[in-house]
Amino acid sequence: MTAGAAFSRGLEGVIAAESALTYIDGQKGILAYLGIPIEELAEHSSFEETAFLLFYQRLPKRAELEGFQSELIRHRALPEPILDLLKRLPRTAAPMALLRTAVSALGHFDPKPDDVSTTALQEKALRLTAQMATLTAAIGRLRKGLEPIAPTTDLSHAANFLYMLTGQKPTEEATRVFDVALILHADHEFPASTFASTVVASTLSDIYSSICAALGALKGPLHGGANEQVIRMIIEIGDPSRAESYIKEKLARKEIIMGFGHRQYKTYDPRARILKRYSERLAQQTHDTRLFQIEEIVEKTVIEALGGRGIFPNVDFYSGTVYHYLGIEPELYTPIFAVSRIVGWAAHIMEYLKENRIFRPTTRYVGPPLGHYIPIEQRT
Ligand code: ACO
Repeated sequence: MTAGAAFSRGLEGVIAAESALTYIDGQKGILAYLGIPIEELAEHSSFEETAFLLFYQRLPKRAELEGFQSELIRHRALPEPILDLLKRLPRTAAPMALLRTAVSALGHFDPKPDDVSTTALQEKALRLTAQMATLTAAIGRLRKGLEPIAPTTDLSHAANFLYMLTGQKPTEEATRVFDVALILHADHEFPASTFASTVVASTLSDIYSSICAALGALKGPLHGGANEQVIRMIIEIGDPSRAESYIKEKLARKEIIMGFGHRQYKTYDPRARILKRYSERLAQQTHDTRLFQIEEIVEKTVIEALGGRGIFPNVDFYSGTVYHYLGIEPELYTPIFAVSRIVGWAAHIMEYLKENRIFRPTTRYVGPPLGHYIPIEQRT
């Protein structure tokens, strides 16, 4: 315990690091990577370019982007023993847990896993970004009893992921929507997962350990795990006519509605606004608007009840239906979050290590006063 130190439960309002990567104004609903508004990146950028932006803290020139894309493609394939390992693990295991195991195992195939020099970390970050997608697609297939599909060398990161998952080259529209979803999830300042990975990195441990910590934190339903819970709730509601009463009953029981609320945003999450547009468009294109209609009613009901307290849809609310309309099953929604957020985790680790100081906060002691050891026969 440090005398006079302030205590904030959940570290609310505590600035734990300096970062040039992501800017959030939670009152105005602004999100920007390196100063570029998320709306502009979603409109004009690609996942690969956004990853370069976050890793190197600037937009690439054309040749640099092409080189970066080629490197990502070169590292897509997984070491064969990793695929064997995944095949031997229980098919019923949670995909996020499988992903965590696989990332941990990937470290054993890196000849220098403990090298945390800038150059080594840049290479590892790129490789992990390429392989998180391959791992997630492989997990998605294996849990359905299907063989993993080897990555292509001629498709973008987004298109290649959808191909590895389904075995079919996706349409331009599906590729663009998925690419935008990846851009939107790439970084978000210092949420639990990024903080966890940076804490591990600050001990100068290896990046695989850091990313396993991040995956563990992302898995939780209060963080990235919320997106799977949202779609399950929407499917459970089943019909637009039931949506309002379902939510009102939940709120009356003081239950948390997944996909709403955020430590940073006290207004509409700008990522949710973009995803909502895509969700609506896909709903119309697939002539299956039922789930989107349910979501709109859920959103209206929650905002009517809790909007005054700053509770609005977050990124996890509309991402589920976007993935659903792309034909992806709910169990993969949180791993897909990791397919993108690996970029933010690695970028923050690289940034933090440039001026590293080990994270070591303190606790406010609330235990008994100093006393003495009591021999066992004298204990009452
Ligand atoms: N539904 C109902 N009530 C809510 C919700 C919600 N989704 N979110 C917050 N509240 C209420 C809380 O019950 C609390 O009420 P109280 O003051 O009466 O106790 C108040 O709003 C403040 O909420 P906290 O939980 O203290 O806010 P915190 O910043 O600690 O938590 C969190 C943020 C975890 C995101 C929370 O809003 C939540 O549980 N949301 C649902 C889960 C979710 O969608 N998580 C994904 C977030 S985005 C991401 O991580 C990628």
